[in-house]
Amino acid sequence: MGDLLTGKTALITGGSRGIGRAIALKLGRAGCDVAILYHNSHEEAEEVCSTLRTLGRRAQAIQADVSDPEIIREAFDTFRTQFKCVDFVVSNAAIGVLRPALELSQKHWRRCLETNALALNMLAQQAVPLMPRGGRILAISSLGSTRAIPQYAFIGASKAALESLARSLAQELGPRGIGVNVVSAGVVDTDALKYFPNREQLLAEYARRTPAGPTLTPEDVANAVYLLCLPEASMITGHTLVVDGGYCISG
Ligand SMILES: NC(=O)c1ccc[n+]([C@@H]2O[C@H](COP(=O)([O-])OP(=O)(O)OC[C@H]3O[C@@H](n4cnc5c(N)ncnc54)[C@H](OP(=O)(O)O)[C@@H]3O)[C@@H](O)[C@H]2O)c1
Repeated sequence: MGDLLTGKTALITGGSRGIGRAIALKLGRAGCDVAILYHNSHEEAEEVCSTLRTLGRRAQAIQADVSDPEIIREAFDTFRTQFKCVDFVVSNAAIGVLRPALELSQKHWRRCLETNALALNMLAQQAVPLMPRGGRILAISSLGSTRAIPQYAFIGASKAALESLARSLAQELGPRGIGVNVVSAGVVDTDALKYFPNREQLLAEYARRTPAGPTLTPEDVANAVYLLCLPEASMITGHTLVVDGGYCISG
C-alpha cells in the first residue's frame, strides 16, 4: 500500500474497539500518527497505541466521553500536548439503546443524539482551528439513517442527524479546504452486535442479501475511510459513501 499518509495526524473517536480500532490501525499503517479517544476500554486503547508505536508512529490514547462538549474540549487540550495539528478526524464512537420506539424516553434520546451526532459538531469545533487545508472530517454512520430497523429508532434518528450535520459542515468548511464525508456501513460483526436480540438473524439475513458478502469486516469500513483521506478525494465532500457489499441494491 505504501505510506501515502506519512506525516499526517489522525484523531479517531472510539478507537479502542471494533471499527474505530480498525480505522486507527489502517491510518497508522498508511503513515499517520494517531490519537484515539476511548471511553471505558483503557487496556484495549493502550494496546492499539502500542501496535501503532511498533509501526513507528506516535500514538496517544485519551479517555473522553464524547457526549460531553466540555470533555471533548479537555481531550483536545491533552491532544495538543503531543500534536500541533490534526489532518483527519473520524467521529466513530457511538452507543445504542435497542428498544421499540414506544419504550424510549427523553433520556435515551439525549444519550443517543449527544453521543452519536452532537459529538461530530463538538469535535469539528475543536479540530478545525488545528486543521490545515486538505484536512478531512469523517463520520461513521449506518444504513439505519434511512431505513427502519427494528429496535433501532433512536440510533437511526441519531445517524440521520449525523449525516445531515456532515453536509452542513461540508458546506461551511469547503472554503477552508476541509472535506467532510460520512462512511455508512452495513452489518459488521463487532461487539456492538452482541446487544442485538436478533444478532444471528441479522447476520444471516445480511449474508443472504449481500452479493459481495457474506458480511463486512471492520477493515472494510476502515478502507473506505482511508480512501476518503487520500489527496485524490479532495473534491469529494458532503457525501455519504455506503460500504455494504451491495446489500442495499439487492432485492
Ligand atoms: N457494527 C456494525 O454493524 C455497524 C454498522 C454500521 C455502522 N456502525 C457504526 O460504526 C461505529 C463503530 O461501531 P462498532 O460496531 O465498532 O462499535 P463497538 O464495537 O461497540 O465500539 C464502540 C466504540 O465507541 C466507543 N464509545 C462509545 N461511547 C463512547 C463515548 N461516550 N465516548 C467515547 N467513546 C465511546 C467505545 O469506547 P470504549 O470501549 O472505550 O468505551 C468503542 O471504542 C459506530 O458509529 C456504529 O454506529 C457499526
